[in-house]
Amino acid sequence: MSTGTMKKSHSQWSSRMGFMLAAAGSAVGLGNIWKFPYMAGQMGGSAFVLTYLLFMFVIGLPILVLEWLIGRRGQKNPIHTMEDVAASEGHSKSWRWVGIIGVVGSFLILSFYSVIGGWATDYIVLAAQGSFEGANGDITGKIFESFLGNVNHLLTWHTVFMAVTAFIVAMGVGAGLERACKIMMPGLGILLLVLVGYAAYVSGPSFTAAFKFLFTPDFSAINGTAMLAALGHAFFSLSLGMGIMMAYGSYLGKDVNLLSTACTVVILDVIVAMLSGMAIFPLVFANGLQPGEGPGLIFVTLPIAFGNMAGGTILGVLFFIFLTFAALTSSISLLEPTVELLEEKTPLGRKSATIASSLVIWALGIACLLAFNEWAEVKLFGKNLFDLLDYLTSKIMLPLTGLGTVVFGAWMMNQKRIREELNLNDFWFTVWTVLTRYIVPVAVIIILVYGFL
Ligand code: TRP
Repeated sequence: MSTGTMKKSHSQWSSRMGFMLAAAGSAVGLGNIWKFPYMAGQMGGSAFVLTYLLFMFVIGLPILVLEWLIGRRGQKNPIHTMEDVAASEGHSKSWRWVGIIGVVGSFLILSFYSVIGGWATDYIVLAAQGSFEGANGDITGKIFESFLGNVNHLLTWHTVFMAVTAFIVAMGVGAGLERACKIMMPGLGILLLVLVGYAAYVSGPSFTAAFKFLFTPDFSAINGTAMLAALGHAFFSLSLGMGIMMAYGSYLGKDVNLLSTACTVVILDVIVAMLSGMAIFPLVFANGLQPGEGPGLIFVTLPIAFGNMAGGTILGVLFFIFLTFAALTSSISLLEPTVELLEEKTPLGRKSATIASSLVIWALGIACLLAFNEWAEVKLFGKNLFDLLDYLTSKIMLPLTGLGTVVFGAWMMNQKRIREELNLNDFWFTVWTVLTRYIVPVAVIIILVYGFL
């Protein structure tokens, strides 16, 4: 059983720090730097951003705590954890479905995640070649356009990214990667700060405009679509709903304080997303670019900064290297559940399980990649394949499994034990109960219903 293999490597992270690094490594990724800004841009800015922030703390945080708590109880992969914990609390093993949808979802997410991870990797090379030197928005836009049109090129980098992900998972060297990220993650943070500083320095009034765009409370703009998008992204960004945090919870020591650790991870995750937004939008406005540009947003804006600042070439190379590493710590967490399941349910060993699942994900990724060029017009339900997969996972599967987790945690499990485990006093236990029993499930249901109307 692979849980054993993983446990071996994970058991070395004896400290709370090590665990947090792994959890934060899974959470912080393309979701924060690539997806958050382009979604904020498409959804008209602050309405999306403020709801996203609210959902991160009110909905994401309790679910994160519950996933860890359930995982720590179950000590197995998400599907068997759900079965066992349900059975031990006297409930049906059908709760395993929360775990099953999770595994399928992580598989689907990885197919498009790897395509974008490939873009980030390729941009290391483009930056190193000095392609952005002196570039304005026109030029970076053209570079990105011709890049998107070059199928072989995209395919190569998608393949590279997927192969590296598979290699790390097959060899079980994830812990090494997490350690590398001890340097890379703070590096990414510092570079984002430099970019925000640069944006503030060169774009003057556009910086204020960007700040207003992202943070002015304008609740008139909040509608069902923006709310569902914000909810889905809160889950995506915290790696929730796919059993991944549950799996990480199974390596947690009893002594780790779930609440404070979860707060740290949520805050870190939010900070990275906000920095990314504040680095990008001033450049969008200063260069007359479109906030609603879509998935290419960071790839047309940040190169402008790298192309025009002192030392921009080297900073650009570093930035895309760090981004690729952040994406890898997330992609390995997305591949692990499928591999684990195949290993347990089929005669395949870890290596063959990794190769088999990676090949299928890779092939599905090719179809996503073609959605950006040759198959742009191939649509199902009015969406191309990339949009469709994103929609199905972020807006349907993640909220549904999140709902399953919170209903299970708040209504099916012994609350007294949870209270002891979380070390809550009367006041906070009441807050916790009202939140997890009523507010979170009702909010998720309402948002799902409104999102589809
Ligand atoms: N959270 C990661 C990011 O922001 C992506 C990710 C990793 C993820 N594991 C996940 C998303 C599980 C949903 C579910 O880039």
